[in-house]
Amino acid sequence: MIITDNLITSFLRTRSDTEEICAPLQIEDYVIQPIVDVSPPKWHLGHTTWFFEEFILSKYVPGFERFHPEYAYVFNSYYESVGKRVIRTDRGNLSRPTVSEVYEYRDYITSHLQTFLEENDDPKIRELVEIGIHHEKQHQELLITDIKFILGNNPLFPKYNDTFSENPGFDDDQISGYSTVEEGVYEIGYEGNKFCYDNELGRHKVFLREYTIANALVTNKEYLEFIEDKGYENSLLWHAEAWDWIHTDNIKAPLYWHKIDEQYHQYTLQGLKTIDYTAPVTHISFYEAFAFAQWKGERLPTEFEWETAQSLFKWGIRWEWTESAYSPYPNYKKAPGALGEYNGKFMVNQKVLRGGSVATPRDHTRPTYRNFFHPHLRWQFTGLRLVKDK
Ligand code: AVJ
Ligand code: FE
Repeated sequence: MIITDNLITSFLRTRSDTEEICAPLQIEDYVIQPIVDVSPPKWHLGHTTWFFEEFILSKYVPGFERFHPEYAYVFNSYYESVGKRVIRTDRGNLSRPTVSEVYEYRDYITSHLQTFLEENDDPKIRELVEIGIHHEKQHQELLITDIKFILGNNPLFPKYNDTFSENPGFDDDQISGYSTVEEGVYEIGYEGNKFCYDNELGRHKVFLREYTIANALVTNKEYLEFIEDKGYENSLLWHAEAWDWIHTDNIKAPLYWHKIDEQYHQYTLQGLKTIDYTAPVTHISFYEAFAFAQWKGERLPTEFEWETAQSLFKWGIRWEWTESAYSPYPNYKKAPGALGEYNGKFMVNQKVLRGGSVATPRDHTRPTYRNFFHPHLRWQFTGLRLVKDK
């Protein structure tokens, strides 16, 4: 029996989309890891492949032969219960496997999984493939931001391509002003029968006081006013660890901002440009988002306020920092076994971001999606939306 269906189509599409993202790269771009958080594109290509090999093919295909016995060691990211791996800081120190060997690995796993799915419609397998597809989409976003960091930290400021827009259509639909949400009890968390991550469950009620939330994201123009008002020099606006961070790392503006002849420029995937001041600010840390809100006399939304209000505004081009700590919802259950390491073990010392970004695959995010990063990180397309209390 040959099964061809949406799952196989979406699997194959996801695999080729990843490769499409890498098409503009030169071989040298695939290999380096300029900071620990940024992985080499070659590693992303291999890791997303290993995920299908490790969690599906090697477990469920009788007699399955791995492409290479050592690749689990090279491409396991953080699954302690699966086995040892290259430490994260060493991902950029590997000249082998070569880029072309990694592409061969991709083809091998893609075609074996396709064949397996054509002959097997076990719901348990299909569920794992679905996780693998969503996992690869998360890495598509990371690929774009990691490529931006690799190219944007090169003194030659090479562009990625001539077409990637970091501000698609925002000027048509950014509406100024604030919307009000009334005090009340609201439901939070995913409800439905499509895919969601375990961290979006269990659905539960929260109580919210009345608040107003900005219809638009904070723009580069507003952020420049904060810089010019010496926001980075005013200790009263900053958390203690943020104040240490801006001094240790000499932070004076968002990531990718460069002052050239008294004018700010911004590295974009299309190369170095003068700043578009009407566009939403991006590449700021939670620390900076918080300090900006303090300066305005306003605050960041909690993730519950964001989720409750999200239908009132347009979102999806910047990940929006929230005030919420990344913690389990009541009744949170992680998956059994190694896949339980996917989200749950990161629920400490990180902040939740809501929305999505220009780098997020179009069908990947949703109103209940919880992204999370440490508060100093800013290489994702992060931004902020303000909230005022009644
Ligand atoms: C949700 C983006 C923080 O980068 O580790 C990738 C996504 N999870 N592989 C991360 C993820 C497993 C995750 N973030
Ligand atoms: Fe991963």
